[in-house]
Amino acid sequence: MKSKIIITVSFVLCVGYALFLGCKSTPHYTLAQFINPSTCGGCHDEIYEQWKNSMHNVAQKDIIYKEFARFYLDDSKSQNPVNNDELKEAESCVKCHIPVGYITGKPLSVTEELSMEKDLPQITMEGIQCDYCHTIVEAKKHYNARFVYKPGNGEADPGVKRGPFKDANPDWHTAAYSSFHTKADFCGTCHDVRHVVYGTKLETTFEEWSKSPYNTGDSKTTVPCQGCHMYHRPGVPATGSTPRPANPGFAAFGGPQRDHIFTHYFVGGNSVIPGLFKDTVKAKMAQERLKNAALLEIETGDSNSGTVGIAVTNVGAGHKLPTGLTDVRQMWLEIVVVNQYGREVYAVGKADKKGYLPNNTIIFKTVFGDGNGKPVMNIAKAKEVLSDNRIPPKQKITSTIILPKGLKGSYTIKVRLLYRIADQKAVDTVMKEKAVKLDIIEMATAKKDIIL
Ligand code: HEC
Ligand code: HEC
Ligand code: HEC
Ligand code: HEC
Ligand code: HEC
Repeated sequence: MKSKIIITVSFVLCVGYALFLGCKSTPHYTLAQFINPSTCGGCHDEIYEQWKNSMHNVAQKDIIYKEFARFYLDDSKSQNPVNNDELKEAESCVKCHIPVGYITGKPLSVTEELSMEKDLPQITMEGIQCDYCHTIVEAKKHYNARFVYKPGNGEADPGVKRGPFKDANPDWHTAAYSSFHTKADFCGTCHDVRHVVYGTKLETTFEEWSKSPYNTGDSKTTVPCQGCHMYHRPGVPATGSTPRPANPGFAAFGGPQRDHIFTHYFVGGNSVIPGLFKDTVKAKMAQERLKNAALLEIETGDSNSGTVGIAVTNVGAGHKLPTGLTDVRQMWLEIVVVNQYGREVYAVGKADKKGYLPNNTIIFKTVFGDGNGKPVMNIAKAKEVLSDNRIPPKQKITSTIILPKGLKGSYTIKVRLLYRIADQKAVDTVMKEKAVKLDIIEMATAKKDIIL
């Protein structure tokens, strides 16, 4: 009886609202309005090649995304009783990972995405694509993809594409200058992720950048996301510690030569997923980016005490190191002490044969909790941040280790800062037989002799 009343009430509200404004709960856009990226590539060939197989292009096909989404959802559905707040979060991934599908009404949830996997329209599987980004006009909130869009009407009437040029005059589509596209806020609208019910900050790349020295408040000196990630190209990692030279060229066939064309590789630290799509160019670019992100130093103060400080400085990233979904990512210190004959006498953070890390490993990451201080793996259950020891932009964090007491003589300490897109153990648990063996990337190394 009660539920009937609720249904009637919401129906009346919706009809009332629909008469007033057009019912907001139904999608505003249709799939036919969006143009296939390969069509854009007909004139923007270089940009298309860069974007193809990028993390944005494969945001839906990404097997790690899909298997984690399935795992969180199954876990949330298997609770007794099911917690609806949790379920809402576990269903919400589609907003960012299959955005054209979501805003045109299918799939509206992960359940729907996974069940219609074989029948998803091809264009929605192209992930975060040209006509999605370039028809965005503004954002209502700078998190959870709260954008406002003005798409055209398909290829017959492509409409306005918004970008950084004030004087573009293409003849097939109309062009308009958009200052929004030149700002970090644009990227930040997806790169800040909050739990849809609890509000827990799950990813905070944009917030981290906002508080960083790269955001000076003056548009002439600020380095937005685009200032590193859309200057990046093979051989030009474009980080905070390496030059970010302009990339002169042409944005399209028929367009004028310009001083800088923003690149569209959208490479971060992920070398595994582009590699699964046989994109060795992007896999290599990710490694190059990681190798220019951090500085590693060994500080041996009073050597007699056997206390060693290991300092990591974030010299290259415009946000914390690492950033994004850092409950899953792993950046850690591998510390090995060898004696004068090269024999290992002590080690911390050395992965075993399966790639699993020992408990004493120093890992820079975020841990979420259930609201009562208990760590959770399923982000749908995340009510609080229990810890976050990641390194803010241009800052240094020193971790201390104490060498075993029995060591006497001369030794060499070898430290490596390592990165992997996820905890191998978590990937093996979640993905089972589909599990991928993840590459470990060496970001920085340091070596120091010590006499004890
Ligand atoms: C028939 C060729 C053609 C096709 C197809 C095409 N474009 Fe363009 N586009 C151009 C030209 C030419 C320019 C102007 C380049 C310049 O001025 O440097 C341009 C400019 C742009 C700009 C810059 C706008 C600005 O003011 O900064 C964007 C964004 C853009 N196109 C997006 C798209 C998208 C998205 C698609 C696919 C839906 C697409 N284009 C398809 C020819 C094309
Ligand atoms: C994640 C969103 C996103 C996606 C996906 C995307 N772009 Fe862009 N694009 C941008 C932004 C942002 C800029 C402007 C950067 C700036 O001015 O700081 C831009 C710039 C451009 C420009 C202006 C020329 C330049 O590069 O400087 C063109 C043309 C363009 N994009 C076409 C495309 C095409 C074609 C695709 C698909 C193959 C595409 N874009 C995919 C966000 C996107
Ligand atoms: C000063 C240059 C710089 C700026 C500005 C910058 N980044 Fe990065 N970004 C990097 C470097 C270097 C890495 C590789 C190290 C890492 O993974 O953090 C990176 C990595 C990333 C990653 C992958 C993180 C991971 O490990 O999964 C994402 C996502 C990302 N950046 C998004 C952004 C966004 C969004 C902005 C703007 C809010 C931004 N970046 C601003 C340099 C920059
Ligand atoms: C529609 C939401 C959306 C927008 C807008 C967006 N991104 Fe992303 N971005 C994502 C998602 C989702 C992924 C991860 C895709 C996956 O899991 O395969 C991603 C991945 C990335 C990565 C690769 C991270 C890695 O681990 O290697 C970089 C770099 C990045 N984005 C930068 C940007 C920049 C710069 C902008 C602004 C010009 C931007 N993004 C705008 C949603 C977005
Ligand atoms: C508001 C946008 C947004 C929503 C909603 C979202 N994500 Fe993401 N997701 C991102 C961005 C941005 C990245 C890239 C961050 C990075 O590289 O560190 C990402 C990356 C990922 C990755 C890493 C993929 C890889 O190959 O390394 C996984 C896994 C993932 N998301 C799972 C999920 C799941 C599961 C949900 C729903 C419970 C979800 N995401 C909801 C924006 C979003």
